[in-house]
Amino acid sequence: MTGPVYVTLEGPEGCGKSTQAQRLAGDLDAVLTRETGGTPIGRRLRDILHDVTVDDLDDHAETLIVAADRAQHLAQVVRPALAAGRNVVSDRSVYSTLAYQGYGRGLPVDEVRRINEWAIGDSWPDLVILLDADDEVLTSRMQGRELDRFERAGDDFHARVRAGFASMAAADPDRWVTVDAADPPDAIAAIIRAAVSERLGI
Ligand code: TMP
Repeated sequence: MTGPVYVTLEGPEGCGKSTQAQRLAGDLDAVLTRETGGTPIGRRLRDILHDVTVDDLDDHAETLIVAADRAQHLAQVVRPALAAGRNVVSDRSVYSTLAYQGYGRGLPVDEVRRINEWAIGDSWPDLVILLDADDEVLTSRMQGRELDRFERAGDDFHARVRAGFASMAAADPDRWVTVDAADPPDAIAAIIRAAVSERLGI
């Protein structure tokens, strides 16, 4: 590819993607950002989404809140950075909504996709790095962490999210790279860096 690139890291809680996003952004001299909460408005929306005292948020409302976070994030952070010639590495993206609100909550994935297309236009990530590991590894990484609304959503929900990520990766192999999150962090970082170089030519 010529020009700046937009790379996202995706995966379930405990997969280590935030650490890897940081490392990759450092390697690429990229703008490091995140969804949800990558903007001041997004941080206010994130507070609602994660609040464990919120127990009556409708699934459609949840979907629109994450899409609103994303519209603001694309307008305020991602597109300006790309327009200025900077690479962008984002900790989560539109694919998290398809996985969590579509596959996880059980809303029709096509509808969730359409709402997000309206929110972001054609600003889809160029490359998706999916970090995945089996439940044992992920659960052990979550030990001792205070759980938020999503983390409390139950094993079936999280199994659907993981299956959703896997099925999107299988359906679009040019855009997705799946990495084993059980490997040591240095090895994962090297695999990701090699994949970015091979796929995007940077
Ligand atoms: P984080 O801890 O990686 O920031 O993720 C926060 C939670 O938000 C995680 O459980 C996934 C969830 N989430 C969604 O449900 N939909 C989305 O679109 C995004 C970006 C995150």
